[in-house]
Amino acid sequence: MYYYIRTFGCQMNQHDSQFAAALLEKSGYEPTANLDEADIVLVNTCSVRESAEKKIFGFIDSLILRKRIKPSLRVVIIGCMVSAEEAVDNLLKKRKHIDIVLGTRSIHRLPHYLELLESESGPFVEIDLDHEVVEGRIHKREDFYRAFLTIMYGCDNFCSYCIVPYVRGRETSRSMNDILAEARSLVADGVKEITLLGQNVNSYGKGLSEEENFANLLLAMEKIDGLERIRYMTSHPKDFSEEIIDAIASSSKICRHFHLPFQAGSDRILKAMNRHYNREKYRDLILNIKNHFPDAVLTTDIIVGFPGESEEDFCETLSLLKELEFDLAYTFLYSPRRGTPAAESDSQVPQSVKKERLLRLMDVQNGISLKKNKAMVGKTYMLLGEGPSRTDPKVQSGRTDGNKLVHFEAKEDYTGKLVPVTVTSANTWSMRGQLLK
Ligand code: 5AD
Ligand code: SF4
Repeated sequence: MYYYIRTFGCQMNQHDSQFAAALLEKSGYEPTANLDEADIVLVNTCSVRESAEKKIFGFIDSLILRKRIKPSLRVVIIGCMVSAEEAVDNLLKKRKHIDIVLGTRSIHRLPHYLELLESESGPFVEIDLDHEVVEGRIHKREDFYRAFLTIMYGCDNFCSYCIVPYVRGRETSRSMNDILAEARSLVADGVKEITLLGQNVNSYGKGLSEEENFANLLLAMEKIDGLERIRYMTSHPKDFSEEIIDAIASSSKICRHFHLPFQAGSDRILKAMNRHYNREKYRDLILNIKNHFPDAVLTTDIIVGFPGESEEDFCETLSLLKELEFDLAYTFLYSPRRGTPAAESDSQVPQSVKKERLLRLMDVQNGISLKKNKAMVGKTYMLLGEGPSRTDPKVQSGRTDGNKLVHFEAKEDYTGKLVPVTVTSANTWSMRGQLLK
C-alpha cells in the first residue's frame, strides 16, 4: 500500500508532513512519488494567502476523479485550511471524496482514523486546537544531514492580517529537556544542521521556567557535540532581545542569518498591523545586528497593500528596504483572511495598486540582492553540501552559514559535508564557486 503527500506552505507544514509520513510508514504504508499508484493521498494545506488556497482546492478537487476510478483511495486533508470549523464545513459540503480531516494539532490521530475507516465510513474530522502538545513525535527526514526541530506550537501575536493564531492555536512551548533530547538523538543519527521551528521562536519559553528562554536554548544547543549548524525560524522583531544577540555572538554554531520580517515601513501601518514595534525600533535592531555581525545575512518579509496603505506609506516601506539593504526579501500582496481584523476593514487597496507596488518593491530588492551576492565574489565560504544538481551531476550545491546557495563543480560527493568554496560569480538568486584545493 502506497501513500502520496502533497505539502503546501511553510517549513512548519513541511515538518508536519514529515510527521504524517512517519506515522503512515509505521502503519505499514510505503511512499510513492507517483499519484497514480497511491492508496492514500494526504494533502497538507496552507491558508496564509488566498493564492495558496486556490491551488489547494484545485488539487483536492482533482482527487474526485481518482477516487471514482479507484474507490478504495483514501483522501486525507490536514493543516491550516482545516483548523477552523467553518472552513471544514465549507470544504466537506461539496467534496464527498474526503475521508479524514485533521487540524494542525491532531495529526497524531491519523493511524486511529485510518483504522476506523476499515469498519466505518467517513468523513472523520478532528480539529481540536486546544489539544496538548504531543511529545515523542517521529519524523521521516528527507536529508540525513539536516533536520527541523519544533520548539513551540501556535502563535499569540494576532497580527491583524494573519490567520495563523486561529489555525495553529495558542503559543505552547516544549520543555527545553525534550528539545535537547531530540536534538541529541538527531545528532547521534548523523544530523549536522538543525533548524529550530516556531511561529515566533524568540518568545520561546512562555509558561515554562524562567531559565527556559530562547537565548538559553541557543546556548544549550551550542554545547551539543557533533552539531555543526543551528538555524531558527521565524523571528519576531519585537522579541529579538539583546540577550539573544549575545548568545549568537558567543556561539560558533548559530548561523549569522537573520530573518526578521518587518512587513511595512510606515508606523501607521505597523500599528494597524498590531506588530508592536515601529520603524525606528526595527531600524535600530537591524543596525545593532549589523554592528555585532558585519557579515550577517539579512532577510525579511514584506506585505504590500495592507488596508489603508497610501502611496506615502508604501514609499516608507520602499525607503526602509533601500536603507537597510537586505540580502533577500519575501514580498507578498496583502490577502484578506476571513476572521482576521484587517479583512473587515473597508479601506481595502485595489488589486491593481497592490500589484504595481509589489513590482516596484521587487525591482528595488532584486538590484540589492544582486549587489549583495556580487560582493561575495572572491571570498571563500564554508558550505554545507546539499548534493548534486538534478540536471548536471558534475555540479553540486551547498549553503553558506548565511543560507546563500552556491553551485560548484566537484567529483567527490559533498552531501552533508562542510566544504570550503570560493565564490567566482553571482546572480540574483545564487552563486557559482570553486572548491578550495
Ligand atoms: N496576506 C499577505 N501576506 C501574509 N503573510 C501573513 N499573512 C498574510 C496575508 N494575509 C505573510 C507575512 C508573513 C509571511 C509568512 O506571510 O509577511 O511574515
Ligand atoms: Fe502571523 Fe504575526 Fe503570528 Fe507571524 S507573529 S504567525 S505574522 S500572527
